[in-house]
Amino acid sequence: MHPKILGTSSQSKFGQPKAVTRLPFTMSDKTVLDFAAEVDSYAEPHLLPNSQDLKDTLNASNSHAIPQIAVSPAQGKFLSLLTRLSGTRNVLEIGTLGGYSTICFAKALRQRGQGGKVTSIEILKDRQELAIQNIRNAGISVPDEAEVLLGSALDVLPQLEAEIEQGQRPRFDFVLIDADWENHWPYFDYGVRLSNKGSIVYVDNAVGAMRRFGIVGPGTDKKEVVSLVDKVGADSRVDASLMQTVGAKGHDGFLMALVL
Ligand SMILES: C[S@@+](CC[C@H](N)C(=O)[O-])C[C@H]1O[C@@H](n2cnc3c(N)ncnc32)[C@H](O)[C@@H]1O
Repeated sequence: MHPKILGTSSQSKFGQPKAVTRLPFTMSDKTVLDFAAEVDSYAEPHLLPNSQDLKDTLNASNSHAIPQIAVSPAQGKFLSLLTRLSGTRNVLEIGTLGGYSTICFAKALRQRGQGGKVTSIEILKDRQELAIQNIRNAGISVPDEAEVLLGSALDVLPQLEAEIEQGQRPRFDFVLIDADWENHWPYFDYGVRLSNKGSIVYVDNAVGAMRRFGIVGPGTDKKEVVSLVDKVGADSRVDASLMQTVGAKGHDGFLMALVL
């Protein structure tokens, strides 16, 4: 259904009044975000009807007092669709938490039926252990379909690079960066280096990081934090876009790059 036409504004160039379409909501920040959360809860049971394993993952994470900072169900489904659309076989994920997005990727790979694996990196041991438990409970085989490597990403990534160079593991086709925001750029750089041409490098919370570091908005400008958008825009290895989002997790957005 089309949005209701609520009013008219200035004249069009043909002299007719221009119709203005406005959504019938007060567009203050609060109501837009409330509405966005309501839309997500409406859509979830329709578009993710068979997701008990993902709900179990969130419940298990909550009962272990793990922060509720996994991707939203809608975003997890979006990542899963992107995985299938892009013909991805091997996924690199930086930041595992309780394994929610890892499970989304692993299930997408299984749906494609072409093999492949998710390699996820987590710095905290209790989270790594819980994620492995959640992944197994979702029916995913560890380490054949998904592995969770323990360590700081900037220590683990050089090891992965060495293994790729020695032919011990394949390059990645999809990289999700979802860990500490200060390191978005080094993670992005590794993501490109460890990927095949035609791969996707997806940086979650790219907009939240811009706000937090004062690159946009009223926050303090942290000079030591490099603007990811600035660096990616000047990087001839990729072509990229930044998408803002609103939903169950508020206002944020992701940067997505195609490796050329
Ligand atoms: C936003 S959560 C990841 C959420 C997960 N991708 C999901 O959607 O289910 C970020 C995770 O990154 C981990 N992390 C933070 N800094 C890290 C680092 N330097 N190396 C590896 N993991 C890190 C945190 O412990 C946390 O579990």
